[in-house]
Amino acid sequence: MSSRLIYNIKRLVNTREESCLLRGAALADLPCIDDAWIHIEDDRIAAYGAMPALPRDLRLLIENDPTAETGNPSARAIDAGGRFVLPAWCDSHTHLVYAGSREAEFVDKLRGLSYAEIAARGGGILNSARQLADTTEDALFNAAWQRLQELARLGTGAVEIKSGYGLTVEGELKMLRVIKKLKEKSPLSIKATFLGAHTYPPEYRDDHQGYIDLIIREMLPVIAREGLADYIDVFCEKGFFDIPETEQILRAGIQYGLRPKIHANQLHLSGGVETGVRLGALSVDHLETMDTSAIGALAGSDTIGTLLPTAAFFLRMPFQPARDLLDAGCAIALASDYNPGSSPSGNMNLVVAMSCIQMRLLPEEAINAATVNGAYAMSMGHELGSITPGKRANLIITRPLSSLAYLPYAFGSDLIDQVMIGGAFVRDRPLARRPVNTGLK
Ligand code: NIG
Ligand code: FE
Repeated sequence: MSSRLIYNIKRLVNTREESCLLRGAALADLPCIDDAWIHIEDDRIAAYGAMPALPRDLRLLIENDPTAETGNPSARAIDAGGRFVLPAWCDSHTHLVYAGSREAEFVDKLRGLSYAEIAARGGGILNSARQLADTTEDALFNAAWQRLQELARLGTGAVEIKSGYGLTVEGELKMLRVIKKLKEKSPLSIKATFLGAHTYPPEYRDDHQGYIDLIIREMLPVIAREGLADYIDVFCEKGFFDIPETEQILRAGIQYGLRPKIHANQLHLSGGVETGVRLGALSVDHLETMDTSAIGALAGSDTIGTLLPTAAFFLRMPFQPARDLLDAGCAIALASDYNPGSSPSGNMNLVVAMSCIQMRLLPEEAINAATVNGAYAMSMGHELGSITPGKRANLIITRPLSSLAYLPYAFGSDLIDQVMIGGAFVRDRPLARRPVNTGLK
């Protein structure tokens, strides 16, 4: 059994004895231990505590490790002096399996076109679908693998990944098989969501029921038989899937054991939030456009509201009303929406910073929303999202920092020294010896 101790931690963040979903005011409660240690056995958190209470057998680990003082991440005892240790980010909404990129449309948007206008002229999701059709399963896997590696180095330990750029039986299955292979091969924890209802393919533009039938009769049975998805999602939006269409598709998914998630209220007040709540969705995601009815429905439910600030930023939309949601008692998570059209970045450090800067989340709230509640929004709260004995050892070790608020404050800096996923370090450099631009004198 491999045994590792990280000690002299300035502050061990989000220490909890059990998993929970944090709603409303409780999101600001971030339990921490100052001057702490954490013990990792294999891929799991074994124990943690304050330095004065370090057990003797663990103290021996430090005394017997000649490399302990060097900051060498291959050492068994790692001196984290001045650094914060957090649970790795849990990113509960991404579309990171995609082919090519869409920066030409990005420039079109700079010249004045809107997301909806680009979609209406056959760009957007349909552009990605055309590129995906021309890409082999292997090439798709390799591109997604590179993205996952980058995310791990940025501190993400778990991701949900959606299909939705296939839009044919073959294309959707291709995407979901890539996600299944990523699940098998990657040390990150991954959940798969079937999003066949991302947009109507051109041949079904005037035959919505025809495409819905394809989803229900041709796609879902194979997906269920091969165990290719954990959740089902629909882009519920004007010009995409309306409420009766959304409901029909989600109910069919439920029949196959797939819990709903919904892209809701991104561009318009679509009624998607209320529909999600009514169908027992695990999460309703986006929520740029909310009114009191949608907020009230969410507050009175077990459904979590997943906010995607980098998508709002990239599309120049109003940011999600996070404070109103919390005041009403909603549970919220933060996620990246990593995709080629509305958030070509999966950097959760930026998501956390942006939620503070633009949505006025406190640093403690943002960290909880991106860890504990993010894990919940992937049904992985028992396994991830906090520093809890028995949970997977997915950790961020920061650079030496003046305080935790420095993380969202200095939003453009790389403030992470090391990331541990399943007990193994993913960055190839030793812990930095000197603080670099970290608020310390
Ligand atoms: O979550 N809104 C719908 N789906 C994605 C964007 C997909 C795309 O533009 O490729 C989103 O923003
Ligand atoms: Fe999305």
